[in-house]
Amino acid sequence: MKALEGIKILDFTHVQSGPTCTQLLAWFGADVIKVERPGVGDATRGQLRDIPDVDSLYFTMLNHNKRSIELNGKDETGKEILERLVKTCDVLVENFAPGALDRMGFSWERVHELNPRMIMASIKGFGPGTYADCKVYENIAQCAGGAASTTGMLGEVPLVTGAQIGDSGTGLHLAFGIVTALFHRETSGQGQRVTAAMQDGVLNLCRVKLRDQQRLETAGPLTEYSQFGEDIPFGDAVPRAGNDSGGGQPGRILKCKGWEDDPDSYTYFITQAAVWKNICDVIGKPKWKDDEDYATPNARLPRLNEVFGAIEDWTMTKTKFEVMDICNPMNIPVGPILSMKEIMRDQSLRDTGTVVEVDHPTRGKYYSVGNPVKLSDSPSEVLRSPLLGEHTDEILKDVLNYSDDEIAEIRASGAVGEPKIQAAE
Ligand SMILES: CC(C)(COP(=O)(O)OP(=O)(O)OC[C@H]1O[C@@H](n2cnc3c(N)ncnc32)[C@H](O)[C@@H]1OP(=O)(O)O)[C@@H](O)C(=O)NCCC(=O)NCCS
Repeated sequence: MKALEGIKILDFTHVQSGPTCTQLLAWFGADVIKVERPGVGDATRGQLRDIPDVDSLYFTMLNHNKRSIELNGKDETGKEILERLVKTCDVLVENFAPGALDRMGFSWERVHELNPRMIMASIKGFGPGTYADCKVYENIAQCAGGAASTTGMLGEVPLVTGAQIGDSGTGLHLAFGIVTALFHRETSGQGQRVTAAMQDGVLNLCRVKLRDQQRLETAGPLTEYSQFGEDIPFGDAVPRAGNDSGGGQPGRILKCKGWEDDPDSYTYFITQAAVWKNICDVIGKPKWKDDEDYATPNARLPRLNEVFGAIEDWTMTKTKFEVMDICNPMNIPVGPILSMKEIMRDQSLRDTGTVVEVDHPTRGKYYSVGNPVKLSDSPSEVLRSPLLGEHTDEILKDVLNYSDDEIAEIRASGAVGEPKIQAAE
């Protein structure tokens, strides 16, 4: 049995943050009913399209295993159907701009009144306070959550990262909150409000940088940052650390054989103290094992440029995969910089279902990221995303128990858009 089988999710999410959350719940077996504006749907269906008139990869890769109902939540008939959905479902998830759901008539108070067992979960850009009413997208969250100011090279502009820590990261946080509230409902019998702000989610993922801010204020320069060894003074806020390792084990990105032509021919190399002697052997510097200028982590800190220079002289003679093959048996932590092209073709990621091939009726086959969390007794199967309104009739009939006559009336009202022909698989 799937872990969340029997749980019905009223999915009012769009773009990336909310859909990430409901996709995770769907992968674990929840019945996710995605409500979309008739004829329009989630805006991402049409964004960054690679094939004309076909749901974009942006949409398909964030909405697996869901059902789609077209429903105008601002129409009177639409509101009645929504009320029935609220009474029937276990969780409502939304990431509208602040106030949008209230304007539609579905405030937390109203939802709780309609269904006291319902959990209502929301993502907003900011929590209550100065910026509570602001719309927020990924990069704004990365900037406001402390990621951008601590990412990038020293002395250069702040950088946003490719990992969608604001959107997908907050979706993950919200999914955790929902499952926690579902667990609590087992004993309390009551639903509750779950909220996750994108700024908070990013800050949670930048926890170590808040740690460093306090170390900077109480203990002075951050010795494991490269700028310490380079005698560059620290200011009063955590600086950008380039590619320095976040923990106390210095690491850097180093060139590998072929770097001149391949932008991803690099390795991440960590000079873990416990295996320093192995590192000295591998790079041909056996004398550094006992030399007091190099033998201890503290002695090496002011010499990191020299140390990593010597390591890079060696890594440049090997491909990033040869570096892995040589260092791993010696317990030296290294990692290749993998391109998306390499990841998409990685056999072990395919074997575990982390990279999956999905077939879609109008787009054909494409690759997606499967469920990164594996449950031994509840495996996830990745199913294609729904077409817009593909399950409208099915949901009205099977979930909400409307009769055929009532469905015809609902259709005539315009609240659920045009009937759809079931897609051929
Ligand atoms: C992402 C975001 C910036 C997009 O803004 P947007 O495109 O203007 O979309 P909104 O959320 O404001 O919703 C637009 C309108 O569509 C309406 N709408 C959406 N689905 C509807 C439906 N099924 N029926 C009727 N109306 C619908 C909303 O009610 C809203 O109307 P209103 O503004 O008149 O009240 C905004 O939703 C937001 O800040 N969300 C919270 C943070 C977040 O999740 N950001 C990351 C997204 S990846």
